[in-house]
Amino acid sequence: MKEWTSFDKISKGNGIWLIDSKGNKIIDAVGSMWCNVWGHSNPQLVKAITKQTKQIQHSSLFNLTNEPVEKLAKNLIKISPGMNKVFYSDNGSSAMEIAIKMALQYWNNIGETKKTKIATVENGYHGDTFGAMSVGYVPEFFGKFKKQLFSTMQFPVPNKYRVPKGFTSSDYQNDCLDKIEKGFSKNNNIAAFIMESGAQMAGGVIIYPKDFQRKISELCKKYDILFVLDEIATGFGRLGSMVQYQEQKSKPDIVAYGKMLTGGYMTMAATLANKKIYESFSGEFYDWKHLFHGHTYTGNPIAAAVANENIYMYEKHNLIKKIQNTSKIFTKYYQEILDIDIVGDIRHKGMLMGIELVSNKEKKIPIRTKKSINKVFFEEGKKQGIYLRTLGNIVMLVPPLAIKEKELEMLLSRTIKTIQAVKSKII
Ligand SMILES: Cc1ncc(COP(=O)(O)O)c(C=O)c1O
Repeated sequence: MKEWTSFDKISKGNGIWLIDSKGNKIIDAVGSMWCNVWGHSNPQLVKAITKQTKQIQHSSLFNLTNEPVEKLAKNLIKISPGMNKVFYSDNGSSAMEIAIKMALQYWNNIGETKKTKIATVENGYHGDTFGAMSVGYVPEFFGKFKKQLFSTMQFPVPNKYRVPKGFTSSDYQNDCLDKIEKGFSKNNNIAAFIMESGAQMAGGVIIYPKDFQRKISELCKKYDILFVLDEIATGFGRLGSMVQYQEQKSKPDIVAYGKMLTGGYMTMAATLANKKIYESFSGEFYDWKHLFHGHTYTGNPIAAAVANENIYMYEKHNLIKKIQNTSKIFTKYYQEILDIDIVGDIRHKGMLMGIELVSNKEKKIPIRTKKSINKVFFEEGKKQGIYLRTLGNIVMLVPPLAIKEKELEMLLSRTIKTIQAVKSKII
């Protein structure tokens, strides 16, 4: 992209601050791509990494295992009701590829070879690899690859800010659920329904209305369809609960975690499956029921060691409660943000806020700027001392989960100043 001619070099991090090679400090409002939990350079997490580095740095999970991953599997199963086994990978997209393969192969393993279709919701996002792009199709991101992606069945998601004419929000939700049920009842070839848990992130910060996810979970059970949830961006406290599917009273067969799993310090993801799924994969070697999937760095012990320390710290510091309390700071700023004449909507849950910018509040027309909106916000944000990224016309606030109240106040008031400054750049 021509507008990015140079990049600031980040050389240090301290708490919520990123520090570049020239010594400039900016607040990490993006949580280093939504994964940072305790802020940067947390001594306990750094210690967990260095300690493990002195033992074994990497050893394969092919034919072998290691202590940190064994411990982490136990930790993950403990926090994930209904889940039975863990399959490791090293990034969220791979965790979702694994979830897709598990779901498709499950039916094959039990002899139901007709169930081969994946159902999803519009504008979901599950990563940038081909399977993940197929099931999480955001047209703006992946339109160029449409022909190469496998086909899925897509259903609408109720977006409270863009309710079609003639509907109330709750009518609209029921309409979306009706469409899903009709789709399920007419097609007996659906292997799995895949969605982000609690909210769509990259697809526009769409926070699901109450009961939406639970009802889909129930429909999946009713029509014998596997329910697969992606908690990579929304689990581990981002939306204010450790496990979103539990808060949503939904029951997945397969769930994926990533991003915040290691506190945002090492690259690791995990795909968890319930007993039913796991057992379908066990058999004699020549039954060929096992899952052919593995990456070089699957189950990296350093990543697992820091993930274990991270999970321990969630409990020790009661982080989820702390997030729920700190999150109230956002609400104090709702009105001030909404009063800005280019703000159409704010969507907030836990430690996530999406601010949708429009050039006309009534017609809800997304703003346009000469350079990309992201670039404009990045430059203006830097002047205010914050690192911001937008998704189209939506400003995303996704700070480190353990951000302090005073720090969040600072972030919000600087964000308001940034939005005000961007007003003059709208075309
Ligand atoms: C919901 C969701 N799933 C999957 C992914 C992909 O994760 P990764 O970037 O680690 O491949 C992301 C990344 O933003 C995500 O938001």
